Amino acid sequence: MSDSFFSPVTRRDFLSTSAKLGAFIAAAPYIARGAEVVAKSDQLNVALIGCGEQGRILTNAALKIPGIRFKAVVDIWGYNRTYAERLLKKFGHDPKPYEDYRQMLAEITDLDAVIIATPDFKHAEHTVAALKAGKHVYCEKLMSNTVEGARSMVHAARETKKLLQIGHQRRSNPRYRHAKDRIHLEGRLLGRITNIAGQWHRAVTDDFGFPNGQGIPEAKLNQYGFANMHEFRNWRWFKRYAGGPMSDLGAHQIDVYNWMLGSNPTMCIASGGVDYYKTHEWYDNAIAIFEFPTKEGTVRATYEVLTTTSAGGGYHEYFMGDEGALKISENPKYTKLYREARAPEWDKWVTQGIVASPTSGEGAPPAVKPWEKVGVKKLGGPAKASTVDVRETAALSAWDIPVTLDKAIHQPHLENFFDAIRLGTPLNCDGESAFATAVTILKINESIAAGKKLTFAPSDFLA
Ligand SMILES: NC(=O)c1ccc[n+]([C@@H]2O[C@H](COP(=O)([O-])OP(=O)(O)OC[C@H]3O[C@@H](n4cnc5c(N)ncnc54)[C@H](O)[C@@H]3O)[C@@H](O)[C@H]2O)c1
Repeated sequence: MSDSFFSPVTRRDFLSTSAKLGAFIAAAPYIARGAEVVAKSDQLNVALIGCGEQGRILTNAALKIPGIRFKAVVDIWGYNRTYAERLLKKFGHDPKPYEDYRQMLAEITDLDAVIIATPDFKHAEHTVAALKAGKHVYCEKLMSNTVEGARSMVHAARETKKLLQIGHQRRSNPRYRHAKDRIHLEGRLLGRITNIAGQWHRAVTDDFGFPNGQGIPEAKLNQYGFANMHEFRNWRWFKRYAGGPMSDLGAHQIDVYNWMLGSNPTMCIASGGVDYYKTHEWYDNAIAIFEFPTKEGTVRATYEVLTTTSAGGGYHEYFMGDEGALKISENPKYTKLYREARAPEWDKWVTQGIVASPTSGEGAPPAVKPWEKVGVKKLGGPAKASTVDVRETAALSAWDIPVTLDKAIHQPHLENFFDAIRLGTPLNCDGESAFATAVTILKINESIAAGKKLTFAPSDFLA
């Protein structure tokens, strides 16, 4: 979509656009469920709850979107709250700082939306309160660290008829959307997908600390549900606050499995452990296997999160079909498309802008005919081509995806959220679909703890 699509709308534009969008809105699934379309003014007033690492990233992305005004920042840690306040002031905003989100919701009466980037165990509480106060909500992933928490968020969105977008931002990334809509669904370039392999491999990292003199007194931390400063800073590794690396990193990628296939898994089996970081509670290395039912048959998927080594190619999702394979990542350097030699030529897809011949990096290798006889060295004898009939698959040719993201990584997902508020365009990751992802992710840790294969019923994915 072009930038102009996202440019701020005047009330007049909005009214005329709304009329034009009438038929579209009537057909949009989210709208059909009754969420109201809001355009109180050209400007959208927002508050940020949770001004840590991700809160800052979202703030910086939102600052690039016209018509967004930050009215408040909320954080229990003065250090992060002040940082966010100063950052916004530099850009001409005048946000009111709060420690308690309830006070903020009661006092700032002209808010349209709340962006939530607190630790996962607080998402349900913050989201439900903001929705019930009549605000639209953009809440970070993982939706919640419990299925019940995630369900309460979906129910609150339904009851209040407010929008709820969850921060699985790959769903708004134009490269991912191109891969799903054009390469997979329109061109069917992968053929029948039979397998997925995904991974996030990350090197050992130190625990987070905090600047001297900036600690929060323990009594106050306890009041907000944290045991101490170490757990407050490293909440993702502890069971009462989050789901560990599988939910921190895997959530993004396994969400892409569900989304790309348009399916939820029927079973999960996983292995993991606290192998390395003895001061953490969550599994530092874990591997999961899923089975996804699709119209064309079962898709078997593996996912691996390692936090002790970055070897083995960073982070990506690899969709493998009988005619092609798509290796995709938020980092473009891990992205590539492959064609099996047995697949029909892709020339017409190049002409249509769906794939591109590689201009750099891994290029198309010389054509090799499938099932070609190759010479191998016979045991104990000299190499002799054609003496041994070995059938070997021809090499895949490598192609590029001709779509790039020229914005901050989180910007398109926020734009989609704000467009949904202003124009009624469908959300790319509403509460219902993110609920299914949360159910999928949380099952992995359950399977590791139980030491066995667990199954899903289709009803498990309905909030
Ligand atoms: N989409 C992504 O790519 C992505 C990336 C990183 C993190 N995240 C998500 O963003 C969220 C925040 O992660 P982070 O890395 O910024 O963590 P962080 O620890 O850096 O920041 C969390 C902030 O929330 C504040 N906070 C804690 N309890 C609070 C409360 N009760 N009220 C108000 N503020 C409170 C903390 O003081 C801190 O400033 C998590 O849900 C995480 O999973 C998403």
